[in-house]
Formats: sequence, structure tokens, C-alpha cells
Amino acid sequence: VPHVLSVSQFNRDSLEALFRIAQLLEPVAQRRKVCPVLDGAVLGNLFFEPSTRTRLSFGAAFARLGGSICDTTGFTFSSMAKGESLADTARVVAGYFDILVLRHPDTGSVARFAQDIEVPVINGGDGAGEHPTQALLDIYTIEQEFRRLGKSIDGSCIALVGDLRHGRAVQSLFRLLQVFKGVHFKLVAPSALAMPAELIETASAAGHKVTQHSTLDTGLKGADVIYATRIQRERMTTEIMESYPERFRIDKAVIRRVAQKDAVILHPLPRDSDPAANDLATDLDDDPRLAIFRQTDNGIAVRMAVFAVLLGVESQLSSAMRDARW
Ligand code: CP
Repeated sequence: VPHVLSVSQFNRDSLEALFRIAQLLEPVAQRRKVCPVLDGAVLGNLFFEPSTRTRLSFGAAFARLGGSICDTTGFTFSSMAKGESLADTARVVAGYFDILVLRHPDTGSVARFAQDIEVPVINGGDGAGEHPTQALLDIYTIEQEFRRLGKSIDGSCIALVGDLRHGRAVQSLFRLLQVFKGVHFKLVAPSALAMPAELIETASAAGHKVTQHSTLDTGLKGADVIYATRIQRERMTTEIMESYPERFRIDKAVIRRVAQKDAVILHPLPRDSDPAANDLATDLDDDPRLAIFRQTDNGIAVRMAVFAVLLGVESQLSSAMRDARW
């Protein structure tokens, strides 16, 4: 049974093939056409951690391909609140659905959940582990923005900023970007929140340049992409929070001072809305370089492509799209 559990399942060819499907489905994602190739299929969308984008865009993507969705959010709304194990839950729900998306607070839990069941499972985020479909849509967005700018990811400079220690989205992106050639990764974080050393070693061994920066001024300079992230307070000890004195707020003044004129600014979201937060500020929202809402929109096309591949309907898409109507 095919699953999407980790970015390590993808290489450059499979990534490009997936993006061609996402591209084909753009008119459906943009609500200009309907393409009900999943008519009759049912998705189980099981989220045991909060989510807006991942849960709703998976649901919208499945519905726009003609399928139906059942959702559960949080432990209180499942019988895990009565002590049922994840393994028993997996066995039960595999009998109800054609495909499952799972988000869970424990690292490795989604892979364990998928182990013995005969239904495709997609990792919607497992604790501090991985968030593979976020990395897919992030790279899809970078390619889309770069196409407009006449740039390529090969040989580009990509700054990853913020909580690189706990952020599963940014770690999945860092790993998946390594399928390209000769990327310069600028890792911009206070020492307490640095990218794990083993991930840096893997990137260097694959021929990428990796530099670490403790200030925004040195870290954002020359970057083609500035990928900001939220401080993951829910995954942090008090000790780490207290040792985080540095200012990592990316606002208009910082961007004006150090960013390239054609930099692409991304964030997996949510961002911290506290005006003093070390995060991406809202005073940048009218800057055309800010692509965060184009990025969230891209979640639909990319997640539709993932469903099409896992459910084996990709060969029907070309003719279905020719016949598609609104
Ligand atoms: N980017 C992301 O995973 O957002 P949600 O937590 O809202 O799903």
C-alpha cells in the first residue's frame, strides 16, 4: 500500500512528476473546473493536533475531486479519550475509509499507524518529526515564484529562519530541497533553536553549502528565498524559552535593510499574531515579495496531486480534465 510518510520517499523525478499533476489540476484548485475522479471515495481526516491549513486543504482538495470527508479533531472527540490505542484506532478506521490523513503529536506515530493497514496513509504532521506535504507545497511555490523571476532552485540561496530545532515543516523542507543541486542554505537561528547537526551533515555530504547565522542581517543577505517560521512554544522546554533572548522578527524595516529586491518571502503559517513576536510581521503584507497566501493556495493543487497518485487515478486525469466543466 502506498503511503506518504516522509520526504525521503521523494527524488527529483517523482517530485517533478507530482508537480506536473498539480499543474494539470490547477483549474480545479482555482475553482474554475470540476473533475470528480474520486466520486464515491471517502477520506478519513484524523487530526489529533490543531490545524487550519493542512486539515482544511486536504478536505477541500478531496472534495474538489468529487470525494467525501469525515473529520475528527482532538483526542476528546475520539475514543482515544477513553484509552483506546492508536494501533486499535488504525485497525478500526482502515475499515471505514479509502484513504487517511493523520496528524498526531508523537514523532513517528504516523508511520506506526500506517504499518499494518491496507489503506494509504498521509502524514499530516507527526510531533517534531515530519510534515512532508507542507514541504511539497513549499517547493511547488518556490518553483512557481522562480519561474516568474527566471530563476532555478539549483544553485539558489535559501535562508531558513527561526525555530529550526523543533519545526517539522522547516526540517522537511530542508531535507527535500536537497534533491536539487548546489543550494546554499543559510540557517538563521539563535543557538538554542539551531538545525540539528545530523541534518546539516547530510546536506553538506550531498554537496550543498550550509552556513549558520545568528543575526537576520547576515542571514538574509543574498537570499533568493526567505523562509520564516514560528517559534514552536508547544514543543519547547521553559529552559529553552528562557535562553531565547535574540530578536528574530522579520518586518518591513529588516526586509528593506537586507533583503534582495526579488527575494521570495515564505512561511508555512500559522504566524504568531503578537505584535512583539519573533515572527513574520504583518507590516509586510502588501509587499509583493510576500508569497505566503499564494503558498497556502498551492496546498490544494499539491494535495489533490498526492491523492490522485495514492489512489491510482492519475492516468484518468488528462481525459477527465478535457471533459471537465464548471
Ligand atoms: N502549515 C500548517 O501545517 O498549518 P496548520 O497547522 O494550520 O495545518
